Amino acid sequence: MTSIEMTKGARSHSVLVVGAGYVGLTSAVCFAHLGHQVVCVEANPFRLAPLLEGRSPIHEPGLEELMVEGVLSDRLHFAPAIGKEEMTGVEVALLAVGTPPDENGDPDLTQLAAAAREVSANAAGDLVVVVKSTVPPGSCEAIELVCAEAALEGVRISVVSSPEFLRESRAVEDFLAPDRVVVGASDSQVADLVADLYPAGVPLVKTDRRGAELIKYAANAFLAVKISFANEVAAMCESLGTEAATVLLGVGLDQRIGKDFLRPGPGYGGSCLPKDVSGFQALGRAMGTPTRVVAAAEEVNQEASRAALMKLEMGLAGVAGKTIALLGLAFKPGTDDSRDSPALKLAELLISSGARVRAYDPLARVESFAGERVDCAFDAIEDADALVVATAWQEFSVLSPMAVAERLAGRMVLDAAGALDLESWSEAGLVVYGIGRGAPVAFHPVVWPPLRWAHHRSGLRLLDGDTGFVAG
Ligand SMILES: NC(=O)c1ccc[n+]([C@@H]2O[C@H](COP(=O)([O-])OP(=O)(O)OC[C@H]3O[C@@H](n4cnc5c(N)ncnc54)[C@H](O)[C@@H]3O)[C@@H](O)[C@H]2O)c1
Repeated sequence: MTSIEMTKGARSHSVLVVGAGYVGLTSAVCFAHLGHQVVCVEANPFRLAPLLEGRSPIHEPGLEELMVEGVLSDRLHFAPAIGKEEMTGVEVALLAVGTPPDENGDPDLTQLAAAAREVSANAAGDLVVVVKSTVPPGSCEAIELVCAEAALEGVRISVVSSPEFLRESRAVEDFLAPDRVVVGASDSQVADLVADLYPAGVPLVKTDRRGAELIKYAANAFLAVKISFANEVAAMCESLGTEAATVLLGVGLDQRIGKDFLRPGPGYGGSCLPKDVSGFQALGRAMGTPTRVVAAAEEVNQEASRAALMKLEMGLAGVAGKTIALLGLAFKPGTDDSRDSPALKLAELLISSGARVRAYDPLARVESFAGERVDCAFDAIEDADALVVATAWQEFSVLSPMAVAERLAGRMVLDAAGALDLESWSEAGLVVYGIGRGAPVAFHPVVWPPLRWAHHRSGLRLLDGDTGFVAG
């Protein structure tokens, strides 16, 4: 039976968090801030080393400050591995390891199963294992079998689903003031214990484990649908010569729809949406339940980078041999994460079409990049044939269009991220294209030929054929 109540944020608990990534480290730091006793285990030495020196290995506003607060208060500790010592007195083990897609797009749960095995094998007493990682419905039940097999005799392990909804670049803020907390458990006492970990006064959705797992998948699938829908409307706006941002605001201010995630852009990316959209579809295939809406959203998204490339091909009469200044590599502003970034996808398309890409991003960590990476925006822009803004960093919005115009060899600017004020950039003599705004690529002067209606009283009647109407 599903019910909605509020979290109470009651007494403090002893928690072990596995994984110090965006979700794990944020959870560990915020739990300590909320008064819990926390050990955070991170197996990657490159992530662990800065943690042991009091620095955050990932960029998240406010995270490092709270982390230092937790360490100084003795409520937060870091460790390289899960052992008996780390598990001493632990009531809850929260698993926040990666669940990347495998070659078929299905989530790979190897890290999760390994972490579940390790915490269970080292638990001296009964333990609640919380799966924070995003997993397909049914996973918690499977993980519970893994735990039971690894646990010492007489130790009872209960597995609970409590998916995470934080956004990178606002992880701490989202964790401490979430829209909702979701807890899926087979036992209501265990569900209450897990709900106690979170801040007080947050809407709490208690359900079964499969329900909780599906809430996360369905939420991300719906966000992807919103983004792709916005991009389809944006394409219409380009043809009509009207402004997509305003049209979508007009749509989204309807509370039934909501304006968030209803903005035109280079498509969705990051470590979650593309992966969870394909996981949602894999789930549909496995269950025999069609996921046509989400499949269409994915198709639209895959075309988004290609549409940006086509604009550059048209504007430059071919990109082969041209130098493109690319501002932005992170999948969105405010984060150093470039996993599945639309900016990187566009860079790859440009490079495979014969362009040279010179890129600048203030923070993005990029493992391999076939273009050239430079240290500031103007180093990228100098003498380039065109400029593309692919991530809406604030520092790109405040660039002086005149200074850019002086340095850029060509005149074309493509604002794929919606970061620029097109008017002032056009006034600087630049030819500025956007997504769903700016110079229309193919403007139709006639709105809708043929007008397939007749209005006898005003004398308008449809003429046969597809080409027009006459006064009757
Ligand atoms: N990043 C987000 O914005 C976000 C938001 C909501 C949900 N999620 C989900 O949360 C999960 C984690 O995402 P993330 O972005 O934090 O991943 P991440 O890759 O940044 O971090 C995972 C960390 O776990 C560590 N790890 C793996 N196995 C370990 C083990 N046995 N012992 C110790 N450390 C181990 C890895 O070294 C890595 O540092 C994923 O399932 C993801 O889909 C992510």
